[in-house]
Amino acid sequence: MKLLSLFLLSALFNEAYSIHQYYTSIFSFGDSYADTGNFVILGRPILPIIPINLPPYGETFFGRPTGRCSNGRLVIDFIAEALGLPFVPPSLAQDQNFSQGANFAVFGATALDLDFFMQNNITSVPPINSSLNVQLEWFDKLKPSLCNTTEECKEYFKKSLFFVGEIGGNDYNYVLRANRSLAEARSYVPHVINTISMAIEKLIQEGAVHLVVPGNVPTGCIPILLTVYQSSNEEDYDPRTGCLKDLNALGSYHNSMLREAVQKLRCKYPHATIINADYYTPYIKFATKPKRFGFSNGALRVCCGGGGPYNYNFSAVCALPGSSACQDPSTYVNWDGIHLTEASHRYIAYSWLKGPYASPPILSRTH
Ligand SMILES: *[C@@H]1O[C@H](CO)[C@@H](O)[C@H](O)[C@H]1NC(C)=O
Ligand SMILES: *[C@@H]1O[C@H](CO)[C@@H](O)[C@H](O)[C@H]1NC(C)=O
Ligand SMILES: *[C@@H]1O[C@H](CO)[C@@H](O)[C@H](O)[C@H]1NC(C)=O
Ligand SMILES: *[C@@H]1O[C@H](CO)[C@@H](O)[C@H](O)[C@H]1NC(C)=O
Ligand SMILES: *[C@@H]1O[C@H](CO)[C@@H](O)[C@H](O)[C@H]1NC(C)=O
Ligand SMILES: *[C@@H]1O[C@H](CO)[C@@H](O)[C@H](O)[C@H]1NC(C)=O
Repeated sequence: MKLLSLFLLSALFNEAYSIHQYYTSIFSFGDSYADTGNFVILGRPILPIIPINLPPYGETFFGRPTGRCSNGRLVIDFIAEALGLPFVPPSLAQDQNFSQGANFAVFGATALDLDFFMQNNITSVPPINSSLNVQLEWFDKLKPSLCNTTEECKEYFKKSLFFVGEIGGNDYNYVLRANRSLAEARSYVPHVINTISMAIEKLIQEGAVHLVVPGNVPTGCIPILLTVYQSSNEEDYDPRTGCLKDLNALGSYHNSMLREAVQKLRCKYPHATIINADYYTPYIKFATKPKRFGFSNGALRVCCGGGGPYNYNFSAVCALPGSSACQDPSTYVNWDGIHLTEASHRYIAYSWLKGPYASPPILSRTH
């Protein structure tokens, strides 16, 4: 017995130790679910007010706004901590040492380029040039500060963990906001997936070997969309969760196509470990049985908001006059109507590190 537990202990220690040693940096691409400050850096000179840069954003962990869309840490922050790495700095920060990683994610970013939306007359996209391809260009520009020769870069990125996503959710939201149909939004899915797939492929060619590819959240459970698409027809809602069925179906479709694309890339690049990471299933679990996870205020009511059935109010969004934050954000899944609380992020991060919502889990020894 004793020998066995000693053995297990040392196996566990070795696992933590080797992973700790293995990853020396994190590079991340995505939107507001991963942004650790880029949007605020981009927006500060041009926008009079940036709600995510005001209190109570950041109040729970950082004690001040950091440009993160939450009351505290994001999924990527918990993962960086678990791997023994510093929080991943926003790539647009000045005078920053990026040797342990850079985060290219931007609030509002799309997978598809701005030009694509313009060509299709979808003018609801904010004119911030931060699509996935633009983020990859930023990566290319940063690279010489990390490594120069192909060999040097392959050695460097071999020990990095890459996050490609979550991205794509905004693409569909902007199409819907332009008053286009759900069917039209759905028609963009293959294009979005192809763009993500090409980004993964480019990174693998640069030397990436460990990549995490998060899918979309169930947008039908997101309070801002529950408010916009509120329906008097009970049939439109999933009775288990109270979420909008059609919007969730769009997220599900994106996720299943993304998993297929990842499967193809695994076959093409067998030396690489490409991890499917899932926001969707844990969110559905939260919405189905919130109390089981400590979310006594549920998954559909916003912690920081300004009234209305979901406590989401367009005239009083989080951090602006008329809004206020709840007493205990850890009892809510949703922070501001769009983004999640730190408590949700923590749960999701550990479900990606150890399973079951990442395959293979980030801490598994299969890679
Ligand atoms: C950047 O940080 C790394 C690791 O902490 C360190 O080895 C390196 O010297 C730093 N580079 C500069 C230019 O400060
Ligand atoms: C975009 O709108 C313009 C002006 O309303 C119209 O001429 C053009 O055909 C539209 N293009 C597409 C792709 O819908
Ligand atoms: C966005 O940035 C890319 C690359 O930096 C550039 O090629 C493109 O023209 C820019 N688009 C807009 C609309 O500013
Ligand atoms: C790569 O080359 C540039 C230009 O010669 C140099 O400034 C930089 O320090 C080099 N980077 C590394 C990691 O050696
Ligand atoms: C949105 O589309 C609906 C149905 O096609 C139409 O009745 C409505 O006027 C449109 N609204 C806007 C703001 O374009
Ligand atoms: C939404 O916010 C506005 C501005 O603070 C307020 O007047 C209105 O009553 C709020 N709506 C609800 C449903 O609470």
